[in-house]
Amino acid sequence: MGDQAEELRKLMSQSSAQDTQRLITPVDTQSKKTRIITVTSGKGGVGKTNMSVNMAIAYARMGKKVVVMDADLGLANVNVMLNIIPRFTLFHVMRRQKTMKEIMEKTEYGISIVAGASGLAKIANLNEEERQNFINELESLTEVDVIIIDTSAGVNNNVIDFVAAAEDAVIITTPEPTAITDAYGLIKIIATEYENLNIGLKLVVNRVKSAAEARKVADRMTNIAGQFLNLKVDYLGYIYDDPVVAQGVLRQKPFLVIDPRARASFCIEHIVDRLEKTEVRDIGGFTAMIRRLFGRA
Ligand SMILES: Nc1ncnc2c1ncn2[C@@H]1O[C@H](COP(=O)(O)OP(=O)(O)O)[C@@H](O)[C@H]1O
Ligand SMILES: [Mg+2]
Repeated sequence: MGDQAEELRKLMSQSSAQDTQRLITPVDTQSKKTRIITVTSGKGGVGKTNMSVNMAIAYARMGKKVVVMDADLGLANVNVMLNIIPRFTLFHVMRRQKTMKEIMEKTEYGISIVAGASGLAKIANLNEEERQNFINELESLTEVDVIIIDTSAGVNNNVIDFVAAAEDAVIITTPEPTAITDAYGLIKIIATEYENLNIGLKLVVNRVKSAAEARKVADRMTNIAGQFLNLKVDYLGYIYDDPVVAQGVLRQKPFLVIDPRARASFCIEHIVDRLEKTEVRDIGGFTAMIRRLFGRA
């Protein structure tokens, strides 16, 4: 694994040297930062996809260019949520059949989606040239302002890698004891796998009946993480249990679009607002994230 990481570092430094030569276009990649938000959870069905999609809408309404990347293996539920059938996935990019731009699906809501980041797991099978091409393609995503990665639940390597590579990792739980336990389990694995990693772990409590209920769950989790794992987890906010969410799923339309004044919509706006008020952690941007992902491929 060390050899592979070394090889990738070489690969990446070559690629950035080439990039500098190629960069005659007046794109200022230094001042413009892409915010990468990974949405994850310990237990499934706690609201990751709903949150990813609706956060994206909230960002788009602020005038930002947003891409939602569906990294939920197999389930591909971002498309279902938006009633879109993607023609191509990251797999086509990997196979050099399509470019990143070609696989991005625009939606009527001002956000784009990229399907099937599960392809990233297959990166180890690529030869060097294919890999280089794929890295270059992924780097074209730095044009966007925000990338939201909807991951699958649980503690498989794929999820952990995404969480570790991203700048902001949002962990969702509900007040259900099983969801809390699984979220804690995930945090614990992140803490032990990446001892020295400074990940911006953020907690969202979904499906609550009151702010006080959310606060209680959050306090418990952040305290335990701090006390036993020496890990700082920030409480980012909560989302009310709201029938508009299920309505959105049923109608395949983001609830923020169905009813921007619903309680859940208000909560999402609030969470995005809070995220925007926190600095984008400078850990090298998207290129560095890709590098970290490949380092562990
Ligand atoms: N805030 C909420 N209020 C009401 N129902 C919710 C809420 N969040 C999620 N749900 C319900 O939970 C289901 C699963 O949500 P989803 O976003 O698909 O979870 P995940 O992506 O984590 O598996 C949704 O179909 C919806 O019915
Ligand atoms: Mg999902």
